[in-house]
Amino acid sequence: KGLKDQMVIDAGQKHFGATVCKSCGMVYSAANPEDEAHHIQYHQRLLEGIKYVNWKNEHVAAEFWDGKIVLIRQSDPKYATKKAEDVRQLVDSELGFKQVVLTCPTQIQTYLFVSNEKKIIGCLIAEPVRRAFRVLSEPTTELDSPNKSGLEPQRVWCCSTEPENVFCGISRIWVFSLMRRKRVASRMVDVLRRTFCFGSYLSTDEIAFSDPTPDGKVFAIKYCQT
Ligand code: ACO
Ligand code: ZN
Repeated sequence: KGLKDQMVIDAGQKHFGATVCKSCGMVYSAANPEDEAHHIQYHQRLLEGIKYVNWKNEHVAAEFWDGKIVLIRQSDPKYATKKAEDVRQLVDSELGFKQVVLTCPTQIQTYLFVSNEKKIIGCLIAEPVRRAFRVLSEPTTELDSPNKSGLEPQRVWCCSTEPENVFCGISRIWVFSLMRRKRVASRMVDVLRRTFCFGSYLSTDEIAFSDPTPDGKVFAIKYCQT
C-alpha cells in the first residue's frame, strides 16, 4: 500500500474508532453508543451460546490437541439436542438464515467442535440427502479482493442440470470468527465423512454443501480438492 492510502486508513480508524473485540470478534465503533450497545448485546449472546458444559454420555467423535468434536443425534437426551438447537439458532443468525426448514429434522446430526477452553468454536449440521446438483462454476478471485465494479460479489453459481447421487448434505458449517483458518472446518468434515454412515467412509463426491455462502464455497472447493 502507498503511504497516502495508509494515512487514509489510519485517519479513518481514528475517526470511527473501529475496534475488534478480542472475545467475540465483533468489529464495532467504541465511539458510537449505538454500536457499542449492539456489541454488548451480541457479545453476551455469543459467549452464552458457545459456552459448553460437558454432559454425561457425550459422544466424542474425535479428539485433537486443541479440542474435541462432539456428535449430537436427534435421539440423544434433551439437554444435548437443546444445546444443538441453540447453536443452530446462533449460526443461522450469523448466516442470515431465517426459519430455514430442515428436510429431515429427525435425521440431522450436529457436530460441535469444542475447544480446550470449553467453547464451541465450530458447528456442522448434516442431514441425509439423496440427490444434489453439482455447482459447476469456479469462484472468482474477486471474492477476496475489493470489488472494482462496485457490484455485489456474484452468488449465483451454475449448477449441473442432472442431479447426482449423494448421501450426506451439509446444511450448515460455521467456525467462530476468531478461530478460522485453523482447519476446524476441515476436521469437522473429516469426522462427518467417517461417522455419518455407519461402517463406510464417505468420499467427497458423496457429500454436498447446500446453498453455500462465498466463504463456504471457497472452503468446499479447497476441501474437496485435497
Ligand atoms: N478464504 C479463502 N480460503 C479459505 C477460506 C476463506 N475465507 N476459508 C477456508 N479456506 C480454504 C483455505 O485454503 C484453507 O486452508 P489454509 O488455511 O491452509 O489456506 C482451507 O479452505 C481449509 O480451511 P479451514 O481452516 O478448515 O476452514 P475454517 O475452519 O476457517 O472454516 C468456514 C471455514 C466454515 C467457511 C468459515 O470461514 C466460516 O464459518 N465462515 C462464516 C460462515 C459461513 O459462511 N459458512 C459457510 C456457510 S455454507 C453452508 O453452511 C452449507
Ligand atoms: Zn465482544
